[in-house]
Amino acid sequence: MIKLNNKLIVLGASVVASTVLFTNCFAATTSADKSKVNPAAAGVYSPIKNALDGGVTYKRANGTYAAYRYNTQATKGVNFGRTPTAAELKAWDTDIMPDGTGLPEGAGTPSDGEALYDKDCAVCHGEFGAGGKGYPTLTGGSVASLKNQRTCPGKDAPNRTIGSYWPQVSTLIWYIRDAMPYAHPKSYSPDQMYAVTAYLLAQSEIKIDGKKMDDDFVLDKKSIMKIVMPNRNGFYPNIDGAKGVENVRAFFKNPKNFGAVGTRCMKNCPKESVAKIVNEITAVVPAYSVVRDLPKEDASKGGAVSEGQKLYDASCAVCHKTDAMGAPPVGDKNAWAKVTAKGMDKVNHNAINGVGGMPPKGGAMDLTDAQMSEIVNYMVESSK
Ligand code: HEC
Ligand code: HEC
Repeated sequence: MIKLNNKLIVLGASVVASTVLFTNCFAATTSADKSKVNPAAAGVYSPIKNALDGGVTYKRANGTYAAYRYNTQATKGVNFGRTPTAAELKAWDTDIMPDGTGLPEGAGTPSDGEALYDKDCAVCHGEFGAGGKGYPTLTGGSVASLKNQRTCPGKDAPNRTIGSYWPQVSTLIWYIRDAMPYAHPKSYSPDQMYAVTAYLLAQSEIKIDGKKMDDDFVLDKKSIMKIVMPNRNGFYPNIDGAKGVENVRAFFKNPKNFGAVGTRCMKNCPKESVAKIVNEITAVVPAYSVVRDLPKEDASKGGAVSEGQKLYDASCAVCHKTDAMGAPPVGDKNAWAKVTAKGMDKVNHNAINGVGGMPPKGGAMDLTDAQMSEIVNYMVESSK
């Protein structure tokens, strides 16, 4: 379930993709670091075997290899926690793979998705996913734009969107399942997930069987596997499929693929070995998205959502939506009757300063005391 290999590979691939894309307008030089790892200095942990990405791994007492030096000191059992149950593991194992592994049962159409998108996503990602609000642009863009050099003045930036950049549709639906909508990740049912994904694919003009998806196209476990994303072959080495690991090994075997010499270093690196952007420009079109927090004003909702609720959604809902974290869930009359029985002064004091599993200000230290009491007021009012 923990796909360590995949993660390592993905990391490697993104480094490579960026290196390869920015070759012009770029002064990058590397020079050989002649020093070799000294086995004596490395002691019994002499790095012996090449890791997948060309790094070193360390031999352990039992003959296997690990990415980190292994502590051989005798230890007593730590006895933390307990072994997770199969059901608990299953709840965390939400990966969706390019071969369809992990796709849930369910279905949705672009027109179902449009309603969800307008309600839950447009506030940040713009109408039709077109961006413009400082959050990632999801639709539009072309594969060709990926070759635009960020560092060449007077050029448009690479336009990375679902249609232009994402090589696999599985990643998109997995991302939405795990991370969106932003303030309530994992709150979508499989049908809603398919619907929003279908909507975004249709807006991105992704074709299935050579045809554009119409509003009633049913996206499900089966039809989603027919999708070939436009940038499917834009990444190398190709990490997907049975040959993925081999491809990555072959790629990293050739040091030219990641620098003139490919010497690794963590300290005292020769200056020339680090690639530098010499004439970086920031005024690119479209501007890079920089906003990573919730929108301040919600004009599109005409003030229907109170300030307290907005702040609650942004900073508190993550724990207070259910009782999973031991927090009194908003909407639970009994739980909040107990809280308010202490008197509101005490409750506000606890919210600001923390109590039990409740961190001071819920961890959002930039909230003022006045904002805190506005949120608490919203929580109390919504739980009567
Ligand atoms: C409150 C703002 C907000 C809302 C609402 C929101 N998102 Fe996002 N979304 C973000 C931010 C911020 C990121 C970038 C996250 C990052 O890079 O760490 C993002 C990233 C994404 C991405 C990846 C974009 C990329 O190319 O990297 C997708 C896809 C996405 N959101 C889909 C959705 C969908 C679908 C919804 C509605 C169900 C939604 N988002 C609602 C803020 C939001
Ligand atoms: C990391 C999880 C977490 C976050 C984030 C969080 N809370 Fe809490 N909150 C808790 C827990 C757990 C409790 C129960 C504490 C207890 O009684 O031991 C709690 C209790 C409370 C209480 C009741 C205090 C009392 O006197 O019983 C209030 C009010 C409250 N939170 C407000 C907020 C507000 C406002 C925010 C956002 C700014 C917030 N919380 C964010 C976990 C969280």
